[in-house]
Amino acid sequence: MTLQLAVVASGNGSNAQAIFDAIAQGRLDACVRIVFSNRPGARVLDRAEQAGIPSLCLDHTMYSDRSAYDRTMAKNLHDAGAEVIALAGYMRLLTADFLHAFPGRVLNIHPALLPAFPGVRGAGDAQDWGVKIAGCTVHFVDEEVDHGAVIVQAAVPALPGEPLEDLQARIHRMEHRIYPQALQWLATGRIELIGRQVHVRDAAAHAPVPRAEAMPDCLVWPPLEEGF
Ligand code: GRF
Repeated sequence: MTLQLAVVASGNGSNAQAIFDAIAQGRLDACVRIVFSNRPGARVLDRAEQAGIPSLCLDHTMYSDRSAYDRTMAKNLHDAGAEVIALAGYMRLLTADFLHAFPGRVLNIHPALLPAFPGVRGAGDAQDWGVKIAGCTVHFVDEEVDHGAVIVQAAVPALPGEPLEDLQARIHRMEHRIYPQALQWLATGRIELIGRQVHVRDAAAHAPVPRAEAMPDCLVWPPLEEGF
């Protein structure tokens, strides 16, 4: 069933663009009913215009009450026909007022392998920690920061001493693949949530879990040497 989406973002919107592109290319069965931003001038609003998608910006600094802002936002997205919300770089914590309007239907992308490194500096915090494998996570949103059930994760190598921008670019490239994929699983009714566990129906039929001895080296970084 075609997903009736709202894409909600505060900034650049490269993930929003990846969603628009996946729809345009027929890989994602969704319709973006509205692009919403809390930041006037955000690049994501230009991207929406270029893609011919309606957009709305409500400047959060004009609201003293966070709940009132979220209720107004929820009403606007609902009135636009959105049923599922894709947060794509939305730099505000959503209140229960918003989440109750779209129960179990708000997704987010985070630039770290949750539950490690939640918060606004996911990739930077992972790099500062000295991780060897970084990555990104698509998850359902609940009332705690970067806490909801995990749908899909991608791992990428983190290289000691590399500029943060390089690591971020590597993570971004995977974000742009896993977010549209997660939404397509949702569109095709293949996501089942049991407690904290997300099951993607028939996923194993498409890609069998590799046996331990056949795991690709790219999941281990630095790469294993012969004999290990
Ligand atoms: C991404 O890194 C995403 O993981 C995080 O915010 C960033 C948004 O990037 N939630 P963009 O605006 O989609 O380029």
